[in-house]
Amino acid sequence: MTNHHIALIPGDGIGAEVLPPAQQVLDAVGARHGFGFSYTSYDWSCERYVREGAMMPEDGLDHLRTKDAILLGAVGHPGVPDHVSLWGLLIPIRRSFRQYVNLRPIRVFEGVDSPLRAAAPGEVDFVVVRENVEGEYSEIGGRLNRGLPEEMAVQEAVFTRSGVTRVLDYAFELAARRGGRLTSATKSNGIVHTMPFWDELVAERGADHPQVTWDQEHIDALAAKFVLEPARFDVVVASNLFGDILSDLAAAVAGSIGIAPAANLNPERTFPSMFEPVHGSAPDIAGRGIANPIGAIWSAALLLDHLGRGEAARDVTDAIAAVLAKTDLRTPDLGGNATTTEFTEGLLGLL
Ligand code: NAD
Ligand code: IPM
Ligand code: MN
Repeated sequence: MTNHHIALIPGDGIGAEVLPPAQQVLDAVGARHGFGFSYTSYDWSCERYVREGAMMPEDGLDHLRTKDAILLGAVGHPGVPDHVSLWGLLIPIRRSFRQYVNLRPIRVFEGVDSPLRAAAPGEVDFVVVRENVEGEYSEIGGRLNRGLPEEMAVQEAVFTRSGVTRVLDYAFELAARRGGRLTSATKSNGIVHTMPFWDELVAERGADHPQVTWDQEHIDALAAKFVLEPARFDVVVASNLFGDILSDLAAAVAGSIGIAPAANLNPERTFPSMFEPVHGSAPDIAGRGIANPIGAIWSAALLLDHLGRGEAARDVTDAIAAVLAKTDLRTPDLGGNATTTEFTEGLLGLL
């Protein structure tokens, strides 16, 4: 039996609560399709940081390099500054393993009440393609004149021709396989160097993908359209920061940030890709057993797809849709009173 070797990084808070459900789903669906998984679990987290002074060991990336994929819960804990925890674990993985595509699909499932009148179940089904290794997330910049009236902070954004082109090509190709429509999010009226550059590259790549109809929107107006007409989108491509914000907004449109999955992809497969829910460690609900595991379980489906297990992946998304459409099982973020475990058991029963 084929064995896929997976690195598990539960992380902090609800990260450690939503990862076991995702693992149970992988095992169950693998058994049905005749393949299996072996796991190596790493305790890399803010707790480790407090204990040992680092989020992961110095050779941490070497442990991951040999795995078929990485499944991560969430990182971040009150008391450890977020830029320390995230730049000590999540962001180095994304960058070192050239996971330059962050794929974040969203659907309004039958049986879920979107807070929006315009978001009818079954009609909202799109993907945010977020550039994942450059853009506004950069280490270039600094703080000057600390404590003085002239105190200032400077943060550079980095957009390279090759870095933007490769994520745009991915997004255009994805649009060609889906509904044939691509929307690019920029802010070229306010940010006058990087954003017009991105727009030019969209036009350039668009010319090579005549089967895709594309347009560009200012990010502010686009945010409003996500709320007013979410059903009109197919593939939305955006820079690192804009894609981050749009994907939480899209998740809220679909009923809860607890639903949304992410695939941090190295499309060339030179390095392992990483799968994780869009949400964070949610310290406000951690330890209560009520976190919504859908984001993590759907991320496991994206992992299956990446490993060439498309049928098994579809079984998982079908089971998510079925449990929402056919049962009353809902965690509190979706208005129900099921626990993480009760929801997961219900889903496993429909797999
Ligand atoms: P968050 O996503 O953790 O929480 C935002 C809100 O959504 C909270 O009210 C939370 O209870 C709710 N929520 C999130 N996931 C949920 C789920 N599965 N089920 C039910 N409710 C859910 O965002 P935040 O509060 O901005 O960040 C908390 C910490 O997580 C910070 O340290 C942040 O840096 C970190 N973070 C980590 C990641 C990651 O590891 N990928 C992503 C985002 C935030
Ligand atoms: C996400 C998170 C991270 C990001 C943070 C925690 C650094 O918000 O994965 O969406 O901005 O990439
Ligand atoms: Mn985010």
